[in-house]
Amino acid sequence: TFSLKMLPLLLLLFLPLSGALPVHWESPEEEPTQVVQTYLERFYQLPRSGYRSVRRNSTSVIVEKLKEMQRFFGLNETGKPDEETLEMMRKPRCGVPDNGDFMLTPGNPKWERTNLTYRITRYTTQLTQAEVETAIKKAFQVWMNASPLTFTKISEGEPDINIAFFQGDHGDNSPFDGPDGILAHAFQPGQAIGGDVHFDADETWTTNSNNYNLFLVAAHEFGHSLGLSHSTDPGALMYPNYAFRDPSTYTLPQDDINGIQAIYGPSSNPVQPTGPSTPTACDPRLSFDAIATLRGEILFFKDKYFWRRHPQLPEVDLNFISLFWPALPNGIQAAYEDPDKDLVFLFKGSQYWALSGYDIEPGYPKDISDYGFPSSVRAIDAAVYYRGETYFFVNNQFWRYDNKRQSMQTGYPKNIASIFPGIESRVDAVFQQNHFFLFFSGPRYYAFDLSAHRITRIERSNKWLNCRYS
Ligand SMILES: *[C@@H]1O[C@H](CO)[C@@H](O)[C@H](O)[C@H]1NC(C)=O
Ligand SMILES: *[C@@H]1O[C@H](CO)[C@@H](O)[C@H](O)[C@H]1NC(C)=O
Ligand SMILES: *[C@@H]1O[C@H](CO)[C@@H](O)[C@H](O)[C@H]1NC(C)=O
Ligand SMILES: [Zn+2]
Ligand SMILES: [Zn+2]
Repeated sequence: TFSLKMLPLLLLLFLPLSGALPVHWESPEEEPTQVVQTYLERFYQLPRSGYRSVRRNSTSVIVEKLKEMQRFFGLNETGKPDEETLEMMRKPRCGVPDNGDFMLTPGNPKWERTNLTYRITRYTTQLTQAEVETAIKKAFQVWMNASPLTFTKISEGEPDINIAFFQGDHGDNSPFDGPDGILAHAFQPGQAIGGDVHFDADETWTTNSNNYNLFLVAAHEFGHSLGLSHSTDPGALMYPNYAFRDPSTYTLPQDDINGIQAIYGPSSNPVQPTGPSTPTACDPRLSFDAIATLRGEILFFKDKYFWRRHPQLPEVDLNFISLFWPALPNGIQAAYEDPDKDLVFLFKGSQYWALSGYDIEPGYPKDISDYGFPSSVRAIDAAVYYRGETYFFVNNQFWRYDNKRQSMQTGYPKNIASIFPGIESRVDAVFQQNHFFLFFSGPRYYAFDLSAHRITRIERSNKWLNCRYS
C-alpha cells in the first residue's frame, strides 16, 4: 500500500489587524483534542478562553464550530473529530480564518478606482527580473480579463499594490517560515500596506511545473489584493491550497469570475469571459472520462480532475490530475490496471502512460500502435483488464489484447453489443470488480455479469461517488 499523497502547501492571506499567525502542523502525533482546539481557535473564531473555563456550555460551542469547519471542507457534519476531519486539520494551510460561505473578504473592502498601479520593489534571485515581471503581468491579466480593472506597472512612487520578496520576519507581524509551508501573503484593499503582496523569498520560485510556480501563486494573492477571500471550491484559484495548473493554458475558473464581478462588475470586454466550473460529484448529468482501479482504490477521471474512492473511507476526494502527475495531460480518455504487472495504464489520443503506484514509469508516453492497433484507431474510449487480457473499446467495437503473448488476438475488433448484449451506446469508461464489468456511458453505468453474460443492474454513474437519489 502507499500513503495518501499530501497536498503541497499553501498560501497565506494575512489581514491587517486580524492577528492571524502562520500555521504549520509540525507534529501529526499531536493530541487530537489539542489539534481540534488550536485549529478552531485559529480559523473558526473559537473563543480562546471560553471553552477552557469551567463553563458547562463550552462543548456545544466546539461542536458547532467543528460542524462549521466540516461544512467548509465538504466533510460529513458529524460535529465529532473523526479521522477525516483530523486529517484535514493536519494539512498545511493558509493562516487566514475560513469565512464559511463568504467569498468576499469580511467588510467587503474594495478599490474605489479601477485603474490600479503596481510596483515590484524587491526581486528574487532565483528568477531573472524579466521572468518575475512576465509572471506578475500575466497574473494581473487573469483578473483584468474578467473585470473592469486595469493594472499599470510603475517603477517610481507609491503604487496601489506593492510587490516584494521577503525572507523570514519582514516587519509586518507575519514572518515567513523558510522553504514550503507558507508561500506568500497579501493584504486586502486599502491605504499604505493595503493590497500589497509578499512572497516568501526562501521558496524555490519557478516558471514551470516545479514547485512553486510564481504566476499561479501571484494570481491567487492578487485575488486577496482585490478583496477576495478563500473559496471552498477546490477548483477555484482562491482555494487555499496550492495546486499546479498549466500556466500556458490557464483560464480563470468560473467561481473566481463570479467573485471578482460581484465586487467590480462585469468585464469591459463586449463578450463576458467564462471559465471552467469544478465538476460536482452529485450532478445528475455527471459522466466520466476514464476509470481505473489502483491497488484497491478506484480512480474516476473527469477533465482535469479525478475522484479517488478508497474502499475503507466514506469520503471520495476530488484531486487535480496535475497535482499528482504534473507530466500528464488533462482529459484522460481510457485507463486500466494490470494487477499482474502492478501498473496502471492511462490513454489520451494515441499516447499512453504507465503508472507504478503514483509514479509515472520512465520511457512514457508511448504510442498505442505498440498494442497493434491499426493506424485508423487514433484514440481509445475505455479499457479494462481481465484474466490476462485487455479489452479496448473504440466506438461500437472492441479489441482484445493478450498480455502474455503481447499481441492483439485474432478475430478482433468485434461488435460490443454482440459479446456484451445491452451495451448499445458508446462506452466512456469501464472497470472490473469481482466477476463484473462496470460499463459507464453518459450518466449511467451498466453492471455486466461476466458469468451470466448479461446486464444485471443499471444505475446513475455517480452512485460510485456516494450520491444517492430517491
Ligand atoms: C448553551 O448553548 C446553547 C447554544 O449555544 C444555548 O442555546 C443555550 O441557552 C446555552 N445554555 C446555557 C445553560 O448557557
Ligand atoms: C485613474 O483615473 C482617474 C479618473 O479618470 C484619474 O483621476 C486618476 O488620476 C487615475 N489614476 C491613475 C493612477 O491612473
Ligand atoms: C455521516 O455521519 C452520520 C452520523 O454520524 C453517519 O450515520 C453517516 O454514515 C456518515 N456518512 C458518511 C458518508 O460517512
Ligand atoms: Zn490565500
Ligand atoms: Zn509580509
